[in-house]
Amino acid sequence: MTIIVTGGAGFIGSNFVFHMLNKYPDYRIVCLDKLTYAGNLSTLKNVMNNPNFRFVKADICDRKAVYTLFEEVKPDIVVNFAAESHVDRSIDNPSVFLETNIMGTATLMDACCKHGIKRYHQVSTDEVYGDLPIDRPDLFFTEKTPIHTSSPYSSSKASADLLVQAYNRTYGLPVTISRCSNNYGPYHFPEKLIPLMIVNALNDKPLPVYGTGENIRDWLYVEDHCKAIDLIIHKGKVGEVYNIGGHNEMKNIDIVKIICNTLGKPEDLIKYVEDRKGHDMRYAIDPTKIHSELDWLPETKFADGIQKTIQWYLDNREWWEEIISGEYQNYYNKMYANR
Ligand code: NAD
Ligand code: DAU
Repeated sequence: MTIIVTGGAGFIGSNFVFHMLNKYPDYRIVCLDKLTYAGNLSTLKNVMNNPNFRFVKADICDRKAVYTLFEEVKPDIVVNFAAESHVDRSIDNPSVFLETNIMGTATLMDACCKHGIKRYHQVSTDEVYGDLPIDRPDLFFTEKTPIHTSSPYSSSKASADLLVQAYNRTYGLPVTISRCSNNYGPYHFPEKLIPLMIVNALNDKPLPVYGTGENIRDWLYVEDHCKAIDLIIHKGKVGEVYNIGGHNEMKNIDIVKIICNTLGKPEDLIKYVEDRKGHDMRYAIDPTKIHSELDWLPETKFADGIQKTIQWYLDNREWWEEIISGEYQNYYNKMYANR
């Protein structure tokens, strides 16, 4: 079995590569990644010498490079994690989101149609459903919830999902789509809430909470997401969408306080700053379908996962110190200096 994993040098993709190499010693995993600011070869250093692993630096929008790779490795399965993934960056500059998330997905699927494939899996997001009101804790996203996006990021992911479904119906491409809630865990780029707050707290820097901090996300430990995708590509039904997540809803401000308390840092580092434009209030997944069809449930409780994650950032300072010493400083100043 040969699997092309796109975006495997990023947060979730790299965790998926580790999971698959560990669990399936007979599989060949080929990681295709452009190495944007979010991709990091040092994340993959422990698998670079694994004979079942190969890294290829390429852009999913580069048709020639993609076709050549498919011709050469003849993948059975493609799992597409490659994307521009940060909502704030999409608000600042949408165009690269449209290019990578929509055109890149189409290019990959064209290659799948040309070369034949057992499964194309699209890693999507719960953000395609928009948001839920904070005063209706009885409401959850199901696979039947209408698409209703808020940001250029979520709109680009929703557009890709529609294309994936169109390729299934029109060309018979065997596809599946998963829509996951917020992940956290090792190798999470420190532009996102949890790693940004851990890194800032460790450096005694202000902790910038958008708006009131009352927004709710449904947090999933990254390993649980990887296990769900593993199940979907092996046992999921072609043409289906699976929501992944479940009942780990937390307010942003409560997470930031847990990080302060765990690291022994004062809560007065917290600084309320200007809200995100179009800020989604609440995400919450109903995972009934993936539970009943594929027997998946999250295994890691938030209380344990957040402690493991904080410990990982304490134990792997080199990984994130290298990131924040580079171009990241320009990003941080642009996004936060006048907020
Ligand atoms: P990430 O930003 O950490 O990693 C993205 C990876 O894709 C990087 O390695 C980057 O170099 C690569 N990439 C970007 N553009 C590329 C291109 N044109 N060609 C090839 N590679 C390219 O993202 P992540 O948080 O790991 O998210 C992975 C996927 O999961 C995304 O599709 C995202 O929409 C989805 N998702 C993320 C979350 C979350 O909480 N992080 C939740 C649900 C779904
Ligand atoms: O729900 C899945 C999505 O989760 C994925 O599709 C996205 O790729 C991923 O980035 C994530 O999107 P969010 O916008 O929810 O994640 P982020 O970590 O950027 O923000 C989480 C919450 O924290 C959100 O309400 C905004 C808030 N926030 C974020 C940052 C970076 C702050 O208050 N301060 C910050 O500095």
